[in-house]
Amino acid sequence: MIDLRSDTVTRPTAAMRSAMANAEVGDDVLDGDPTVRALETEVAALLGKDAALFFPSGTMANQTAIWLLAEPGTEALCDARSHIVDWEFAGAAVLRGVQMRTLTPLGETIRAIDVERGLRAPSRHAPRATLLCIENTHNGAGGMVTPLPELQALAAAGRAAGLNVHMDGARLWNAHTATGAPLHELAAVADTVMVSFSKGLGAPIGAALAGPKALIDAAWEVRKRFGGGMRQAGIIAAAALHGVHQHLSRLHLDHDNARTFAHLVAGAGGARVVAPDTNIVMFDLRAGQRVAPVVAAARAAGVAISDWSPTRIRAVFHLDVSAADATSAGHIVAAALAG
Ligand SMILES: Cc1ncc(COP(=O)(O)O)c(C=O)c1O
Repeated sequence: MIDLRSDTVTRPTAAMRSAMANAEVGDDVLDGDPTVRALETEVAALLGKDAALFFPSGTMANQTAIWLLAEPGTEALCDARSHIVDWEFAGAAVLRGVQMRTLTPLGETIRAIDVERGLRAPSRHAPRATLLCIENTHNGAGGMVTPLPELQALAAAGRAAGLNVHMDGARLWNAHTATGAPLHELAAVADTVMVSFSKGLGAPIGAALAGPKALIDAAWEVRKRFGGGMRQAGIIAAAALHGVHQHLSRLHLDHDNARTFAHLVAGAGGARVVAPDTNIVMFDLRAGQRVAPVVAAARAAGVAISDWSPTRIRAVFHLDVSAADATSAGHIVAAALAG
């Protein structure tokens, strides 16, 4: 099976498993784990932040950032198709008493203009906003990149309104790879940045939250409260470090494979493909066609893809998909679309 359902389906390579097996460990809740510390130090440096904290998941790191940067009883602004809104079970509302105010962008993802249009006029009758959340790359928009100048303008629009800024950079690695913009410049627009190790970098688990020292010290407490204190976590931090060292530099191959696939699928059975910026390909079916039979036909022929909505399919390229796989998958899915 060529599994294109997500870039989270990768299995650790033999070299990654060996790094995990040989990791030096300690009790990271009690007095520290050296491999976790090494990962946090390296990620903070890559992102140009004072400090970073290792998390079991991107979701917990996002929710920790919201806890720290948004005041209860206020609003956090974000793109209407953000992971924080679509896939985190109303965590901001349940955990922190924060209302997510979703912005439907004029284009594909939010830009400065969308923040300006979405801000409420100050009023004694309406909630204040305290936070802007940015997702880069944007999963729901098909792995779309917000390039550095637009990202800077977007964050500046939030800052001008007095908002803190958090970046869900689960795939910031891909934005960096696609545009060549340095990670630390992309990260500089936000107070806190979440990056994921379990997607393009191929680790089995883990994310980090990076930011100023005082915030990351406070994040330690919030992570513990959420049940995210991890003991001999060096075992998994070693996998994340291996991913940063060995797999960051190969992400462009996933982008190439996504383009190959997109090219083969475009127009098949009338499908419209969103030209991929990075490793995610979204395609919309012709009017009247349903996703379920297409997904089933592709699966029967050896390719797993996701039904993103009743009319949209997602295919994601990653470490376990070769260039040859991308080409065969493109032919198989094109046939499923045409059939
Ligand atoms: C954009 C984005 N943010 C956050 C997450 C959450 O990461 P995790 O699955 O580690 O909780 C994901 C996972 O797919 C994601 O795509």
